[in-house]
Amino acid sequence: MFRGYIIHITAVAALGGLLFGYDTAVIAGAIGYLQEKFALTPALVGWAASSAIWGCILGAAVAGYASDRFGRKRILIITGVLFFVSALGSALATDLTTFVIARLVGGIGVGAASMLSPLYISEVAPAAFRGRLVSVYQLAIVFGINIIYIVNYLISVSGSNHWNVEYGWRYMIGSEVIPSILFFALLFTVPESPRWLMKKGMEKKAGAILYRINGDKAGAISEEIRSTLEMESGKWNDLFGKGLRLALVVGVVLALFSQITGINAVIYFAPEIFKSIGFAVESAFYQTIFIGIINTIFTFVALWLIDRAGRKKLLLWGVSGMILCLCAIGFCFYFEITKGPWLILFVLGFIACFASSLGPIPWVMIAEIFPTRIRGIAMSLCTFILWIGVILITQLTPVMLDGFGGAFTFWIFMINSVILLLFTWKFVPETRGKSLEQIEKDWIKPDEA
Ligand code: GLC
Repeated sequence: MFRGYIIHITAVAALGGLLFGYDTAVIAGAIGYLQEKFALTPALVGWAASSAIWGCILGAAVAGYASDRFGRKRILIITGVLFFVSALGSALATDLTTFVIARLVGGIGVGAASMLSPLYISEVAPAAFRGRLVSVYQLAIVFGINIIYIVNYLISVSGSNHWNVEYGWRYMIGSEVIPSILFFALLFTVPESPRWLMKKGMEKKAGAILYRINGDKAGAISEEIRSTLEMESGKWNDLFGKGLRLALVVGVVLALFSQITGINAVIYFAPEIFKSIGFAVESAFYQTIFIGIINTIFTFVALWLIDRAGRKKLLLWGVSGMILCLCAIGFCFYFEITKGPWLILFVLGFIACFASSLGPIPWVMIAEIFPTRIRGIAMSLCTFILWIGVILITQLTPVMLDGFGGAFTFWIFMINSVILLLFTWKFVPETRGKSLEQIEKDWIKPDEA
């Protein structure tokens, strides 16, 4: 009975991830038609494509504070509304300004949900499978990306170019209304985070929820939460104190490097890259589908391993594999071995290594390494940095590919991966199987000694 309840809670919260993937990838299919419809200059195309990401940065920055104050669930419900308004607003837009504003609003929702969904799952989950449950959120992001790619494809082949320029892109973006309504409605069926409730002094309510999730262990868990909360001052400059400073560095580095090691250069630009080295336009869609399938399969591998092998070991193996594949991709470009199967195989290898480690682990860890009282703002800060990384990659990848070529671009990602590997080996702690309260005590401990 406990299992069913926690699976339900996780699935609902993970829909936030599905909307994240959906919303960030939908633009790839729509942008060409939008360009024609509104006669956009290249600079305006960039603006139309990236406006949502600026919203994400804003959403990530404010959601932590807001959710510490008003509750995780309430702010998640608001993100559901933002998704809906944005999907409808941008689908019906008759001019570029309305479109950009509507996308920005949706971006705020994505940014907020991108930190709140994993945070909420982490606070509700039993310690033994917290890694797996938060990874479901990453799985949902990947599903979101895959679904919208297929939806975009089906819409674009079902009408003439003229129809697509007038209506096709509207259906692509408008289709997000369906998952957003689902997310909004289902959120009313899940409880508030018991840790947030305890922080606000609502112990009875929290106790009942903990009991539904953990059964007889609930008493001990709420005792542990209570005693840890008593130790916390809840001030945000705690984060810069000795023990937790390292937690902050770990969170920020994982968040930033999950982006600057190049995943979205492949996810967002693969079709363009393949086209530029001479592949037929139609095959670009199939490569995207391949990438999606591998991304999905290996996210399942992460789900299976994360609470067994542990976060750190998985990260060390996965990032090592990414380094090898990035090195090989660079060589393929350098020696122009781009026609045969090798380049695609190494790209798929890179995706597999990422999906089984660096895809989910930063989300899992930034949601578990901070104390309850400041988890919201700390996670906001990490997610804010993550979105800055997304902007960097989306803006710089085309410039790097164009100016310096594929070898240089992928070797830069490789160097970043090597830095991440060394950092992980030296500084990232193992948090597998520990309660959030135990993880918190582990940071502080070395200081007391
Ligand atoms: C992770 C990244 C996200 C990326 C996705 C791809 O969630 O944070 O930026 O698009 O993985 O699978």
